[in-house]
Amino acid sequence: MKQFHPLKVVAKQQETRDSLRIALDVPEALRPTFAFQPGQHLPIQTTVDGKRLRRTYSICSGLGDWPLEIGVRVQPGGQFSEFAANELAVGDELEVMPPTGRFHVDLDSDNDKFYLGFAAGSGITPILSIARSILNGEPGSRFALFYGNRKQRSTMFIEDLYALKNQYPDRLQLHFVFSREDQEFEINAGRIDAEKVAELCAHFCRGDHADEAFVCGPDSMITTVTAALTERGMLADTIHAERFGVPRRAMKPVAEEPAASKDTTTVTVIMDGHKKSFDMVRDGVSIVDAAAGSGVELPYSCKGGVCATCRTHLREGDVRMATNYGLEPWEVEAGFVLACQSQPVSEAILLDYDKA
Ligand code: FES
Repeated sequence: MKQFHPLKVVAKQQETRDSLRIALDVPEALRPTFAFQPGQHLPIQTTVDGKRLRRTYSICSGLGDWPLEIGVRVQPGGQFSEFAANELAVGDELEVMPPTGRFHVDLDSDNDKFYLGFAAGSGITPILSIARSILNGEPGSRFALFYGNRKQRSTMFIEDLYALKNQYPDRLQLHFVFSREDQEFEINAGRIDAEKVAELCAHFCRGDHADEAFVCGPDSMITTVTAALTERGMLADTIHAERFGVPRRAMKPVAEEPAASKDTTTVTVIMDGHKKSFDMVRDGVSIVDAAAGSGVELPYSCKGGVCATCRTHLREGDVRMATNYGLEPWEVEAGFVLACQSQPVSEAILLDYDKA
């Protein structure tokens, strides 16, 4: 199982009034462990007022850049983000798990691709990493980024984006859309919705066929942008999406499932080559929470079905997933599940955390 490692905060910088950039030093010996694919995120843990908090933050660094940088939007009342904004200082340590997540690009220096990126608000964080890495690592590829915000002053990483545009003027298209600020051109005003996607693509892509698209923002934006891209002829498996700000959903008890004849399940997990078992009652609690109650720690971060830190392979038995934003269709097909969203529906299940 991936472990948490203490990483030192080596820089902390205000990005906008309500967002931060935090740089984490990764010692040379740990760099292979923290090697990441652009677009992935880091589960981070700390203790605030005696309470252990765990959150997931996307990496904004380009491939091969150290220290690792993350973007943090400070949410009013958000325990971790307010701690990061008000108390975390350079020199402090955070417990950090190696990069994870299925929202990423597989780079190939021989690629000659045209990529689209659609980001809203802090959704720019992983897309900045993806765009940087593609432009640096695929000399034949181009990237068109459409980035929506309320106002210019609330736009995260704006200086990084202008610097990237200066570095790659012919291969990066950079277009901002602002919803609460007058714009000289109508096309730059409003929200990134289906209509805006059609308008932006018609105006700036001019029949250029996109090979892959990366979309990151709130749930409603993902749904509309994905549908608009599909409408324009992109295949579903070339559109990659990551949802930000998805609320945690309580799971309903598995009452109507007919398969089980008793209301407890024996859960066996394989992790790092070892087997552990515990019994859980099928009363609406997830496998991750039931395991914790039995003294078995399973990996998790968001517990909202988004980050896929809890991804595991169901080798035997059946489960029902309440929500899945973190797994691709092929992974579900292949038997992978999100343990934070899964409840057993059979009397015994076997979960293999060692299967990649
Ligand atoms: S912990 Fe994030 S998807 Fe399960």
